[in-house]
Amino acid sequence: MLKEKMVEALNLQLNREIYSAYLYLAMSAHCSYKGLTGFANWFKVQYGEEIEHAEKFYSYLIEQGARVELEAIEKPPMKFGEPLEMFEKTLGHEQFITRSIKDLLELAVVEKDYATSIFLQWFIKEQVEEEANDNEIIAKLKLAGEDGAGLLVVDSELGKRGH
Ligand code: FEO
Repeated sequence: MLKEKMVEALNLQLNREIYSAYLYLAMSAHCSYKGLTGFANWFKVQYGEEIEHAEKFYSYLIEQGARVELEAIEKPPMKFGEPLEMFEKTLGHEQFITRSIKDLLELAVVEKDYATSIFLQWFIKEQVEEEANDNEIIAKLKLAGEDGAGLLVVDSELGKRGH
């Protein structure tokens, strides 16, 4: 059985994962509007991944017989600037999520909640991968610079990201 403090923290993370999905869906819409279909695809796939993350927290709470409390989801921004700025914002958001997961793990360790510590291992690894992906795309966008053709090459590559 999970302690109340842990149930609250896991529900907060569930909300943060859903907000992440919402944020990336807004970014996908922004890219579609700008005609950047590859970028739009990448963010749409990322939206789906965040929903999966949220569902992992949801299922874990249910499995532990704990309360699931769905809170309101904050409205994401509408404007994001150019692709490089978007990915810098994405990286910043993922760094926030990484800190949030680490705080959760610290709480689990302090509370001697071994089951939750094991459950969170997957997210620790996932965050390393997410930040690495963002850094790789930022590096490519910096190489492309102001060059429209370079941007289209990156757009075409991101269009290949599958579900
Ligand atoms: Fe669910 Fe992008 O971390």
